[in-house]
Amino acid sequence: MSILEKAFYSPVGKAVSAKAGLKEPARLRRGRTWPEGPIVLASIGGGTVGAQTLELLGRAAESPIVDDGDAAPGYGARIGALVVDATEVTRIDQLEELRALLRPAVRAVEGSGRIVVLARPAAGDWESRSVARALDGINRTVAKELRKGATATLIRVAPDATPGDLVSSLGFVLQGRAAYVTGQCWTVAPGGVAVESLAETPLDGHVVVVTGAARGIGAAIARTLARDGASVVAVDIPPAGEQLAAVANEVGGTALQLDITAADAGATIAAHVAQRGESIHAIVHNAGITRDKMLVNTDAARWSSVLDVNLAAQLRINEVLLDPATEGGLADGGRIVGIASTSGIAGNKGQTNYAASKAGVAGLVTAMAPDLVDRGITVNAVAPGFIETEMTGKIPFVQREMFRRANSLDQGGKPVDVAETIGYLIDPDSQGVTGQVIRVCGQALVGQ
Ligand SMILES: NC(=O)c1ccc[n+]([C@@H]2O[C@H](COP(=O)([O-])OP(=O)(O)OC[C@H]3O[C@@H](n4cnc5c(N)ncnc54)[C@H](O)[C@@H]3O)[C@@H](O)[C@H]2O)c1
Repeated sequence: MSILEKAFYSPVGKAVSAKAGLKEPARLRRGRTWPEGPIVLASIGGGTVGAQTLELLGRAAESPIVDDGDAAPGYGARIGALVVDATEVTRIDQLEELRALLRPAVRAVEGSGRIVVLARPAAGDWESRSVARALDGINRTVAKELRKGATATLIRVAPDATPGDLVSSLGFVLQGRAAYVTGQCWTVAPGGVAVESLAETPLDGHVVVVTGAARGIGAAIARTLARDGASVVAVDIPPAGEQLAAVANEVGGTALQLDITAADAGATIAAHVAQRGESIHAIVHNAGITRDKMLVNTDAARWSSVLDVNLAAQLRINEVLLDPATEGGLADGGRIVGIASTSGIAGNKGQTNYAASKAGVAGLVTAMAPDLVDRGITVNAVAPGFIETEMTGKIPFVQREMFRRANSLDQGGKPVDVAETIGYLIDPDSQGVTGQVIRVCGQALVGQ
C-alpha cells in the first residue's frame, strides 16, 4: 500500500471518506459457496426449467412473497436468492408479475445474495421481442439498486435447452464464483450433454493452456483451474521465467517459456502437450499488453505491438491448434476463451490500440463460435472491468480510487473473479454456452 492508500484506509481516513460519501465496500462472498439464506423460486406463466434446474443442483426452493400493490410486504428474514423463471413471459402485462416478485425481494436479499431471472432469447412477434428487451432493462436496473454485494443476472435459455444445459450456469451465478458479475445477460443454448448435477472438480483429467500465467489475472486463472482439477500448461515470456516456474510448481502444472507472438507459437504449444501424449481441452488467451497514448501520439510500433499480442497472436495460435492434423492440438469438445475488456466495449481515451484489440477479441468470439459448434468447441470471452493487479496498481491513487468505485459494487474486482468466470466457461458441462462475452466488471459504468 502507498502512503496515500494507508491514510485512506486508516480510521481517520475512513471517517473522512465516509463524509465525502465514499462508503466502505461490501465484502463479497466468493468461491464455491452458496447463499446462506433460502433460495426462493417463482415462475411466471408456468415455466418449469428453473425448478428442474434447482432440483439438479440439489437446492431446495421456497415459495415467494408477492407484492399485492398496497403496502410493500416483507419477507420475515433475509433470503439468499430469488430465482424467477420468466421463460414464458412474452406480454407487457406479465412484467407486472415480475415487479410484484422483485419488490419484496430486493429489500430482503442478503449481502452477496442473488436475483436471477431466466428468460428466452428474443423471438416471436413485436410485443414478445420488445418484452425480451424490457427484461434486460429490468435486470440492469435491479443490479444498480441492490446493496451489500448482491447481484442481478439475466440468463436467456434457448427453447430447446434442457435443465441439464442450465446447471453449470445457474450454479455459477448462485455461487460465490460470480461475485463480481452483475447486471449481465447471456445465453445458454442446447448443449447435448446429459448433466445431472454440479461438478466440484469439472476439469479433472483435462489439459488447459493459460497464456500470460506468470502473474496477475493469468496466475489466478492457473490457480483456479487447478483447483477445479485441470492440468495447467502455464505460458509466459522468457524474462518472466522465474515467476512462471513458481506458478507452474504451485499448481502442479508445467511451465512453457514462449513469446506468443512467435510465428511458431501454436506449434510450440502443441508440441509441449503432445510430448505427454495429451491433447488440449481449453486454451485461455490471457496474455495482454497496453501501450497507452492518445491517438495523436500513437506511432506504428505502439499500434502493432498491442494488436499483435492481444489479437493477431491468438488468431494464429487458434488456427494451428484447431487443425485436426496438429498433434497436441485442441480436442473436439474443447474450449477457447479470450480476454476482452470494458475498454474495448466502451472505448477509452488513450487506448485506441488496446480498444481495437479487445473489441477484436469479442469479434473473434462471435465469428468463430458458430463455425465450431459441429466439433463441440465453444468460443467465449470475458471482459474484465477494473481488476486489482500490478497493471492497474500503476494508475495514480486518486484516479484509481475513482475507477475502482465506478461500478454497482463500489469496488474493484479480484483476479480470481475473472478466473472463476473462465472456469465456468471451460467446464465441460457449459457445452451450451458459446459465442458469449461475459463482463466481469461489477456493472462498470462504462460501456453498455
Ligand atoms: N487488470 C485489469 O483491470 C484488466 C482489465 C481488463 C482486461 N485485462 C486483461 O487481462 C489480461 C491479464 O491482465 P493483467 O492485469 O493480469 O496483466 P499483467 O500485465 O499483470 O500480466 C500479463 C502477463 O502476460 C504476459 N505477456 C505479455 N506479453 C506476452 C507475450 N508476447 N507472450 C507471452 N506472455 C506475454 C506478461 O509477461 C504478464 O505475465 C490482459 O489480457 C489484460 O488486457 C486486465
